Amino acid sequence: MVKGAQLYEGKAKKVFATDDPEKLIVSYKDDATAFNGLKKGTIRGKGAINNTMSNALMRLLESKGVPTHLVGELDERNTVVKRVTIIPLEVIVRNVSAGSFAKNYGVEEGIVFPAPTIEFSYKNDALADPLINEYHALALGLASAGEIETIKRYAFAVNDELKAFWAGCGVTLVDFKLEFGRLADGTVVLADEISPDTCRLWDSATGKKLDKDRFRRDLGGTEEAYREIMDRLKANMEAIK
Ligand code: TMP
Repeated sequence: MVKGAQLYEGKAKKVFATDDPEKLIVSYKDDATAFNGLKKGTIRGKGAINNTMSNALMRLLESKGVPTHLVGELDERNTVVKRVTIIPLEVIVRNVSAGSFAKNYGVEEGIVFPAPTIEFSYKNDALADPLINEYHALALGLASAGEIETIKRYAFAVNDELKAFWAGCGVTLVDFKLEFGRLADGTVVLADEISPDTCRLWDSATGKKLDKDRFRRDLGGTEEAYREIMDRLKANMEAIK
């Protein structure tokens, strides 16, 4: 596969064309941002970790019937994906209170919910990704009613599978953000990434944060935490292969 022109540079990844119009190459960077780009930094080794982890988790999800954009890993930081049009919704699933949920609703972090929650943000940097509901998404023409139903079904299926996988690694899946895209024929597939940048992952025994909150909140030990969560995943890769 030939890496062609750079089409796009995001906060954590670059996207390149290939010789196949239906395929792109995603290249993961060590750059990290938070608070809609206000805070900037580097997490050494993150690009390679997020690439490997996201691909492993997407392979697991594919095997459980959730379609994804993944085609195949090229090398440590580069992956071939199907070209999609991203649906501009950040789909957030939560099992335990944390982050903006705790802040917005005035509760402490760490409350285990009786059932998972789902919410949507309108993916729009200029507006700082405002929280919206399904009616707003329809009104704004971001997705059809059928697509929203599909997205919810896949998001809860992803939660079931990832929660179980991480539990086997001694890790609690607190919450995560997904993005979906449309293939040329309109099929909705899981896109973007699933990594410590986009999930809250807490050690089940100690509660230690093994995710990007270490960077967001200046907790220290961010690079070590990324390596630790990657080691946990690697030790359980057999469950995925
Ligand atoms: P929140 O509690 O800040 O709303 O975050 C919920 C989840 O979404 C958490 O796992 C981190 C992830 N997330 C992203 O992937 N990108 C973002 O821009 C934000 C704000 C959160």
